[in-house]
Amino acid sequence: PTSCALYTKGSGFALTDGSGSSGVCLLGEALGESEARMSKPFCGDAGLMLGQVLHRLGYKREHFLITNRTNCRPPQNWMEGAPWESDAVEACRPYFEETLRRNPQIKVLVPMGNSALHYLLGQKGVGNWHGTIHWHPGYEKWVVPTFHPSYLMRGNWNEIATARFDLQVAVE
Ligand code: URA
Repeated sequence: PTSCALYTKGSGFALTDGSGSSGVCLLGEALGESEARMSKPFCGDAGLMLGQVLHRLGYKREHFLITNRTNCRPPQNWMEGAPWESDAVEACRPYFEETLRRNPQIKVLVPMGNSALHYLLGQKGVGNWHGTIHWHPGYEKWVVPTFHPSYLMRGNWNEIATARFDLQVAVE
């Protein structure tokens, strides 16, 4: 929206990818460079990692609804703690809510990483929250947090199995 602090500063725009036929919506932070260029959420390195985790579980990426709490790429890839963070996040929230209205098949929301966790549950510390099951009374959906794929790629390889388990909980 033109009222957003990132309206002229942000780059690219992408809403969702995938069908959500598994009933699960995966939520990230904001677009990265590849995502802004291709107008598709999680189509770069983080998306490859995400695809691998899902593949190991026997799931196809297309069966999930994949989106972000912010639908553009912030300047210098800077979102967490940036002066525009809360403004941009709330400017994009109506898109997320419209996505949920248009996809009633979605029963479970999976915030990936701290920013999406904070967005949905108002909490930080995904290491303590991952794999736990919550009810979001506003959206009337289950919420099961997990790690962000980029975090898994930053050498936290032993958490890949944990993330797989979290996603299994979300699907079941
Ligand atoms: N990181 C995110 O949080 N979302 C994307 O779409 C890509 C990378």
